[in-house]
Amino acid sequence: MHTLQINSIDKNEVYKEILPQIESLIQDESDLIANLANIAAVLKTTFDWFWVGFYLADTQTKQLVLGPFQGPLACTRIPYGRGVCGQAWEKGETIVVEDVNQHPDHIACSSQSQSEIVIPVWNQKQQLLAILDIDSTELACFDDTDAYYLGKLAEIITRYLG
Ligand code: SME
Repeated sequence: MHTLQINSIDKNEVYKEILPQIESLIQDESDLIANLANIAAVLKTTFDWFWVGFYLADTQTKQLVLGPFQGPLACTRIPYGRGVCGQAWEKGETIVVEDVNQHPDHIACSSQSQSEIVIPVWNQKQQLLAILDIDSTELACFDDTDAYYLGKLAEIITRYLG
């Protein structure tokens, strides 16, 4: 098992430290669920966000189904196009929400969530594999830096598990 060592408080530096460590973690294991579970754990313990988890794409029912996560219980199914997660699937892009209370179609799993970032993870056929969803109890917690590095994380998942 790898030990994560975070020496810097700068967000860029933290991402630059953990991404190669996550990559080496998943290189040694082929099971998707096991790897997504560890990635959620690494992100939660590193950044102490409120909720970190994956929704897995069910292309038959066109729904997102709750997968490995860290944090309080969450809704189990999100239809394509609904909520921030379903919209990220529909649009095919990362969505940053500074204030979830202002978002017209945010699905509130907890009233404590105030801001959110949602990143699509693709398989190697460019179909949706999963959605990485992260919530914070602070407003405007996520920015372009998070979108950039979490997008890089999504690429790593695609490369090894997609
Ligand atoms: N807020 C998400 C739902 C998932 S929970 O935040 C864990 C959404 O609007 O899609």
